[in-house]
Parts: sequence; structure tokens; C-alpha cells
Amino acid sequence: MKRDFTSITDFNRDEVIKLFELAKDLKRDRFQPLLKDKTLAMIFEKPSLRTRVTFETGMFQLGGTAIYLSPKDIQLGERESVKDAAANLSRWVDLIMARTFSHNTITELAENATIPVINGLSDLEHPCQVLGDFFTILEHKGSFQNLKLAYIGDGNNVCNSLLLASAMLGVSIAVGCPEGYEPNSEILNEARKSSNVIEIYHDPEQAAKDADIVYTDVWASMGQEEEGEKRKRVFARFQVNKELVKFAKVDHLIMHCLPAHRDEEITSEILDGPNSIVLDEAENRLHIQKAIMVKLMGI
Ligand code: CP
Ligand code: NVA
Repeated sequence: MKRDFTSITDFNRDEVIKLFELAKDLKRDRFQPLLKDKTLAMIFEKPSLRTRVTFETGMFQLGGTAIYLSPKDIQLGERESVKDAAANLSRWVDLIMARTFSHNTITELAENATIPVINGLSDLEHPCQVLGDFFTILEHKGSFQNLKLAYIGDGNNVCNSLLLASAMLGVSIAVGCPEGYEPNSEILNEARKSSNVIEIYHDPEQAAKDADIVYTDVWASMGQEEEGEKRKRVFARFQVNKELVKFAKVDHLIMHCLPAHRDEEITSEILDGPNSIVLDEAENRLHIQKAIMVKLMGI
């Protein structure tokens, strides 16, 4: 049966650990033709730098090819239904990666395609980002034991995937967000089924206290641009800056999925500072996504 990667929960812990091992191998030895002659279709309803370049480069390094479909090409749900697009693509290519506004578009693609579908960011989750992030954490910390991750900012797609992955991998997580900007409640309930510590604060300092990792993301995600000014006011207290990181452990790591809005959710001083591993995260998108594609193709 074909498998999809629409949510962190599509893989179990053992599979994720194996993906990290494969990503490590693919990072060491970049050109392995494991997907020779395979084609990936990449559907984008929103802009991208990292996701597009890492999937396209990844497919090239694996001996396959990738086709970029811009928001103007398919016009999912307008020029053609999601169901029809999924059925057609299934006859030509081997894999679909999609970045969509609504998470339902991802699940509808997955339900109607006979080939694997990968979530390249939806309004609910950003699972490729977060698997890459945990691979990066493993590289820096050596294990997931006794780690606390503090997520400061909007309870958005990245935060939702971080909650699910933390629960799966046994990392404690504290979210510091303004009231009304909490993560998705169903995801929170799902994450709370695990035995680890999951805390939500409306105070960034409490969330950051003794953290090993301080993670943040933009205050207004793609599609929320019209709320930008309001959000700047609501989130002002939730900036990751030199005062806030004093609450974290001395050897804390700074993470951000990027793109960053410098001096909004994070100061340039912290983003470019010695504790920042944001470029390692960006690089590791390439390696983990290659591993994900190989696994979904059953190789
Ligand atoms: N982090 C991330 O997904 O970046 P892009 O939006 O540039 O793809
Ligand atoms: N939360 C951000 C992540 C961008 C990679 C967004 O959805 O725009």
C-alpha cells in the first residue's frame, strides 16, 4: 500500500529514527542514485526558497528529476479539482510534494493520488521542516534525552509539528504564546497522549526557563499578511532577544525555520549569534527530505 507523509504522525518513532540514520548516510555520501528515473511533482500555492530548492536538489542528487508547479500552473480547486489533479499526476510521476493553504488540500491529494504525497507545509503542519529540525538537534546534542525545547511565538503549523515530534521523541516542550494564539487543540490533545512534559504559557520567560533549545517563527504566517500589523502589537513581548535567552540554559541552541523577520520575532544579534543553528536546519532539509522520499518509494 502506498504511504504518504502529510503529518508527523504518519511515521512512528522507530521509522523516524531510521530516517535520521538514512539522512546521515545521504549527508555523508550525497550522490546515491536511489531514485534513478523517478519524477517528483512539486505543487506550490505559496512562495518558497528552502522547500523548493531542497526538494529539487535532493531529487537531482538521487538520480531523479523534479517539476516545479507554481500557484499559476494548476490552480487547484479553480482550474481543476484537487481530485482530478491528483489522479492525473498519478499517471505521470512517482511522488507529489505540495505546499498548500488548507491542510484539507493535502489530505484530499493523498486520498486521491495512487502515489505518495508529501506535505511541504500547510496551515496545520510543516512536518518536513520539523523532522529536519530534530535531525539537527540530534547532530548537536547527540541524543534527545533530558532536553527541553521552548517554542516562543505563534501556535502555528511549525509549532504543531514540533509538538507532535517532541511527544514522539521524548523531548519536553514549552510553548510561550499570547492568549488566543495557542497551537491547534486537537494536535495538543494528541501530543498530550505521550508521557512527556508539554506546557503552554502566556509568558515567554516562563516558557524559555532552563530550555536547551529556543525556537521561534514569524508572527504572521503566509496567508496572514493582512493581520501583520495587529500581530506585531500582540506579539511584541514574545521577541527572542538577549534578555529572553538569559532564561535558557547557557549552552542553549537557537532555532528558526526561516525565513526570519529580523528584529521582529528574533533580533539579528541572536539569529546570527554563536548559539544559532538556523543554517544547519536549512541544510538538513535537503538530507532529511531525500531520506523521506526514498522511504516513501519503498526503497
Ligand atoms: N522553512 C521553509 O519551509 O522555508 P521556505 O518557505 O523558504 O520553503
Ligand atoms: N509558519 C510559517 C513557516 C514558513 C516556513 C508560514 O507558514 O508562513
